[in-house]
Amino acid sequence: MTKFIAGNWKMNGSFVESKALVEALCDPILSEGVDVCLCPPFVYLATVSQMDKPANFSIGGQDCSYHGGFGAFTGEICAPMLKDAGCDYVILGHSERRQNHCESNAAVARKAEYAHGSGLVTIICVGETLDEREAGLQNSVVILQLMESIPSTASGSNLIIAYEPVWAIGTGKSATISDVEDMHGVIRRFVKEKLDNPDSIRILYGGSVKPENAADILSIENVDGALVGGASLKADQFLAIIAAAK
Ligand code: 13P
Repeated sequence: MTKFIAGNWKMNGSFVESKALVEALCDPILSEGVDVCLCPPFVYLATVSQMDKPANFSIGGQDCSYHGGFGAFTGEICAPMLKDAGCDYVILGHSERRQNHCESNAAVARKAEYAHGSGLVTIICVGETLDEREAGLQNSVVILQLMESIPSTASGSNLIIAYEPVWAIGTGKSATISDVEDMHGVIRRFVKEKLDNPDSIRILYGGSVKPENAADILSIENVDGALVGGASLKADQFLAIIAAAK
């Protein structure tokens, strides 16, 4: 399966910086053979999607509304708007949204259902906290998130799962190779049991992926790509991670 490297810019970058970052990244030779997805903040989506990019580059939103269509929902962005702005993907259920915006698994599933209805591929994030891992609960926490966050509309053609242990996000401390191997095995078994066309579902790892650890992480069985935060904001670092995915 072609590796998928997504950059989650989170709430970073000015308009000028975002354009400069895309220009620096869009090298068709450096990224050849890798599917690259850029996920800028909402306000930069249309601009980034209109810029010249190699065919293996796509655009994703970082979230979408719990409401499916247009209406009186101040401040919300619905899935059809993401599609209209040039997105093919949307990240849903990121731990920063689960924690800071009290997003439940049910809310993630409802958003995902609307996103699928709009033709978007959902990147559904799951992952345990440090307390949960220390209590040995990581597998049951992640399986419950998968069971409740993935709607019945999901299949191999519209679902990517990102395993992001909360304690590894933005901390510089990525999960160990064996932690990643074990959890990706658990997730692969889950999708094989529960979903249609499971072999085409990519499972990404996210959490302090950087040029120094990318090759090791990306060579683990059942790791089909990475969801990168901090290192996706620096062109040289993100390009090095893309190179490691080749
Ligand atoms: P970092 O790569 O900064 O740890 O962030 C990971 C992440 O949250 C991607 O969604």
